[in-house]
Amino acid sequence: MTKNLQAVRGMRDILPEQTPLWQWLEARARAVLAGYGYREVRLPLLEMTELFERSIGEVTDIVEKEMYTFADRNGDSLTLRPEGTAGCVRAGIEHGLFYNQVQRLWYQGPMFRHERPQKGRYRQFHQIGVEAFGLAGPDVDSELILISARLWRSLGIEGLELQLNSLGTPAERARYREVLVDYLRAHEGRLDEDGRRRLGTNPLRVLDTKNPDMADVVAGAPSLLDFLTEESRGHFTAVCDALAAAGVAFTINPRLVRGLDYYSRTVFEWVTTRLGAQGTVCAGGRYDGLVEQLGGRPAPAAGFAIGLERLVALLEEAGVAPGLGDPHVYLVALGAEAERAGLLLAERLRDALPWLRLVVNCGGGGMKAQFKRADRAGARYALVLGEGEVARGAAGLKPLRETGEQEDVATGELAAVLTARLGPPRPEGF
Ligand code: HAM
Repeated sequence: MTKNLQAVRGMRDILPEQTPLWQWLEARARAVLAGYGYREVRLPLLEMTELFERSIGEVTDIVEKEMYTFADRNGDSLTLRPEGTAGCVRAGIEHGLFYNQVQRLWYQGPMFRHERPQKGRYRQFHQIGVEAFGLAGPDVDSELILISARLWRSLGIEGLELQLNSLGTPAERARYREVLVDYLRAHEGRLDEDGRRRLGTNPLRVLDTKNPDMADVVAGAPSLLDFLTEESRGHFTAVCDALAAAGVAFTINPRLVRGLDYYSRTVFEWVTTRLGAQGTVCAGGRYDGLVEQLGGRPAPAAGFAIGLERLVALLEEAGVAPGLGDPHVYLVALGAEAERAGLLLAERLRDALPWLRLVVNCGGGGMKAQFKRADRAGARYALVLGEGEVARGAAGLKPLRETGEQEDVATGELAAVLTARLGPPRPEGF
């Protein structure tokens, strides 16, 4: 027997029961981003491998062991994007978007990392990424965080914790690195294998360990915040003050280092304990050196990305908006004449109410069978047409999700009655 083909490990199908929630979330995000003047860019899934090596950093988990890299038919080394910032910067430089300009951009789509799959961690996952270019001040750092906070409100998500840190400038970090390396060397015996390896390559990442046996060593390590110059400290304080003034609660986590090398100064993560081990829903920060590092004229930048699978899991858990995207109406037609009339009535209703989700019964069947299909489709109302209704120029309207009798409505009145019953559609069309 031939073996059934399966999806690649860690790559998930998003099935029709789930897509309405995704669409709703994406529509809300689009509306929030438009409200801050951010514009969408659509970027390739494939980039030259070198782009990621030069931006994310050669000594990071992503570049060392998680990229989907292959040689194409010309022998060029290409990589499925593991994140969106690098491609966004590449595109901005290539099209001259950053030259003496401010750009507020966002993108969405799949990202690919060959990580060990588990709940909330996949090999193909989706992000909405938001990036602001050409603005060096702390005001835009706060703006980005306010955007994310507004999105949680707009989605009805509560209880996310905002963690903030400053990684300083490369010079500040270099000074800190020396002190940190001395400290870690003095405690080398208590580092695990990964810690010892990182000590030589990327010592700040030692602080990011998940190994509880190293918690003491990490807790006792010197803090980068003590190595910031006045200017970086002022930048960080201004971000914190603006958030406090806007009523956004946060905690400062001096161990927050991020897994990508391009950050400078402000970094942040929104975390939850409700998703198990993979609790970071959104993360980002400032990356002032990256545009220049990738060959552009120097331009300050900051941004963040949201992990959509994790956000969807939170929305599902909270039971947000059940029945999203289900049909409003299922048209039950009994007999050939009613079927013909039903098809035309449905078209007229769709003309009058462009937001209406109306499913017409196909494939015939008796009253009982059609009502069963209406129920299974999740419809809120059945619209019943039999010979009698057609002759009267009316249709029976029966609620399916609440108790209530079937009522006879003249076809000319139907659009008005449905609008009154189903309420005005939300702007996203749900
Ligand atoms: P990141 O922290 O690597 O940052 O990813 C951002 C978010 O994507 C994570 O917080 C998480 O929610 C989600 N995510 C990452 N990996 C996975 C995975 N394997 N499965 C499911 N979700 C995942 C970045 O990617 C930066 N480009 C963010 C940024 C934009 N910084 C500045 N601008």
